[in-house]
Amino acid sequence: MKAVAFEKFGSADELIVEDRAVPDPAPNEVLIKTCAISVNPVDVKTRQGGALASMLMESLPLILGWDVSGVVVACGDSVKRFQSGDEVFGMIRFPNVPNGYAEYVVAPEGHLVAKPNAVTHQEAAATTLAALTAWQAFTHFGKLKQNDRVLIHAASGGVGHFAVQIAKYLGAYVIGTSSAKNREFVLACGADEHLDYRDADFTKQLKGIDFSLETQGGEHFERTVKVMREGGTIINLPSGLGESARTAAESKSLTVNYFMSVFPSSQHMQQIASLLSSGDIKPHISKTFRLDAAGDAHREIETGRTRGKIILETAACC
Ligand SMILES: NC(=O)c1ccc[n+]([C@@H]2O[C@H](COP(=O)([O-])OP(=O)(O)OC[C@H]3O[C@@H](n4cnc5c(N)ncnc54)[C@H](OP(=O)(O)O)[C@@H]3O)[C@@H](O)[C@H]2O)c1
Repeated sequence: MKAVAFEKFGSADELIVEDRAVPDPAPNEVLIKTCAISVNPVDVKTRQGGALASMLMESLPLILGWDVSGVVVACGDSVKRFQSGDEVFGMIRFPNVPNGYAEYVVAPEGHLVAKPNAVTHQEAAATTLAALTAWQAFTHFGKLKQNDRVLIHAASGGVGHFAVQIAKYLGAYVIGTSSAKNREFVLACGADEHLDYRDADFTKQLKGIDFSLETQGGEHFERTVKVMREGGTIINLPSGLGESARTAAESKSLTVNYFMSVFPSSQHMQQIASLLSSGDIKPHISKTFRLDAAGDAHREIETGRTRGKIILETAACC
């Protein structure tokens, strides 16, 4: 089978198409013929030598790809929920080695759910790590309540565009930030208000925010603290906040998750699948690449300007 691997951390040029043996499923795993795989900033940061690189370096050459959608072609002996021919999707093995940039992948049964008939494999693959992150931020790591005023930074990005839709589904009042070119997109996702981070300083426009999803980190986090109400909640997605961030948050008695880490959950994925089926969330795919052009997909994410999601397709889907 075709797979995309890299032997050393570095630029997107390190991503090489290789021939690999089709893997065998363990007793609790299924073998999936992949149709679509989504690409996340954590893939890019890890390939560059950051994010999960130190954890995964023993596994070089490494095949990334945590977000997959495809068709079950074989099942381990103890698999109960799936059989050959089932269409499935999910975030597999995060934060461990996923091996998803490949034509076949083995995945634990518990990391997968049935793909709703109404969505394509590309849409399903798009609605995995990023959607789970937004769902877990609002329902697991924090508790977003009806009528909360929520500030979602990078509301046009992979996580952000799901976060806007999920926060609206949960009954919140949503303020989303992006540059002006994504204003209409963020409002179309359901945001009640949009702020252009290039045009104005959000710390001068907002106050009394109950809940914030912080995507930019560093001094941006401390600016977010300024607009929070006493006792509000911030879920911080990027790693690397310093002591001054903690001091600022403590001065306002905020509940802060300083570095949330999304985790596989069939229960949470089932909720995501239900929201997809009901149309309460809809992924936006801005670009699709063939699996063997994974390097170009990484370069696209590196711009930091992605709207929605970037997808890789295998021959099974093209
Ligand atoms: N901890 C976890 O479990 C976890 C899980 C998922 C993601 N993350 C992290 O969360 C961050 C966001 O992930 P993502 O997948 O949503 O990224 P993404 O899709 O690459 O985000 C791109 C978006 O960010 C917007 N943006 C860029 N700079 C901005 C700024 N200063 N203010 C507001 N918006 C800005 C861009 O809008 P414009 O083009 O309009 O500027 C673009 O639409 C990344 O650092 C990622 O690694 C963490």
